[in-house]
Amino acid sequence: MFETSGFPIVQAPMLGAGAEALAIAVSRAGGLGSHPAAGSTPGQLLESARAIRAATPAPFAINLFILDPCKPDPQVVRAAIARLAPWRARYGLPAQSEPPIWAQDFAAQFEALLEAAPPFASFTFGCLTAEQASALHERGSRIIGTATCVEEALAWQAAGVDAICAQGIEAGGHRGSFLAQHEDLGTLALVRAIKSACALPVIAAGGLMDGQAIAKALAYGADAVQIGTAFLLADEAATSAPWRAAIARAGPDSTRMTRVFSGRRARGIENAFMIEMSEHERDIPAYPVQNALTQDLRAAAARAGKSDCLSLWAGAGVALARPGAAGDIARALWSDAQKLTQD
Ligand SMILES: Cc1cc2nc3c(=O)[nH]c(=O)nc-3n(C[C@H](O)[C@H](O)[C@H](O)COP(=O)(O)O)c2cc1C
Repeated sequence: MFETSGFPIVQAPMLGAGAEALAIAVSRAGGLGSHPAAGSTPGQLLESARAIRAATPAPFAINLFILDPCKPDPQVVRAAIARLAPWRARYGLPAQSEPPIWAQDFAAQFEALLEAAPPFASFTFGCLTAEQASALHERGSRIIGTATCVEEALAWQAAGVDAICAQGIEAGGHRGSFLAQHEDLGTLALVRAIKSACALPVIAAGGLMDGQAIAKALAYGADAVQIGTAFLLADEAATSAPWRAAIARAGPDSTRMTRVFSGRRARGIENAFMIEMSEHERDIPAYPVQNALTQDLRAAAARAGKSDCLSLWAGAGVALARPGAAGDIARALWSDAQKLTQD
């Protein structure tokens, strides 16, 4: 299943922090680099696939969010805009109007993905239909679906995919949940539960920051691991300067789950926006509406070098993130894990 050029480490797709350079570096090193294309237009997706292929013959993945077209209630949007107004004023941003689009159109992105035909295609937030899965297979792509519970893993298996990414509660960024009533299992417990319910290879994701954690996930039955936060300080990552500084300061209890930035549960380092907006947690419009409405505020904060209202996505193990070249990080993670698995 994992015909990487070397070892079974998938560099997690990370919208906002991953870029082609990160995927290229990890694929070149022998892992599976992933390019996050959820924010890309179809043309940008095709261009990224071309750029990665031009840089390395090694396999790579392209990742998309499975989203339905969005038609939010105008009253809900007005209330969300009003809640954000004081934050916009702090950054000198003009009064907010509705963005031209709430999110990229998944159907159009999927057409581009078929054309790009990457070696691997990975998905989160939803499940493909069996027809979509076989269309990708016909183009030669292998498919990874994200699950946060056994029910979701079984849905992916029924769609006919090639592997399940088991995303535990420790994982940084958004939860991939689309059916889950109980989506809070830790990574190791989730791997074990999905392994006993499904016949597919399982990729463990969430809180895996060093060789010891990788060895443990493999011992629990994982066929591979997917690692995000351990690459956030990599030279090739697009992580902004204030985000990097917050990661460097983070301790073992720095991350929280929140909906306030995007309308979807996600794990990140706690900051002022998370704390002040938490009283509205239940009223905030669902993804992608809140995500689109906070976009220019987050961009303004990044430009100003401030982290108070940035979405500082990071996993529970963030305190163990280290800087360096992504290829070196990937190789060191695998060689440390191997020392332990060979004992
Ligand atoms: C900054 C950030 C952005 C993320 N963006 C995506 C994404 O675009 N697509 C996706 O499938 N998962 C995304 N994730 C989740 C990862 O795929 C993965 O589940 C997670 O990073 C694993 O946990 P870890 O961060 O503790 O290693 C993101 C995670 C982070 C930290």
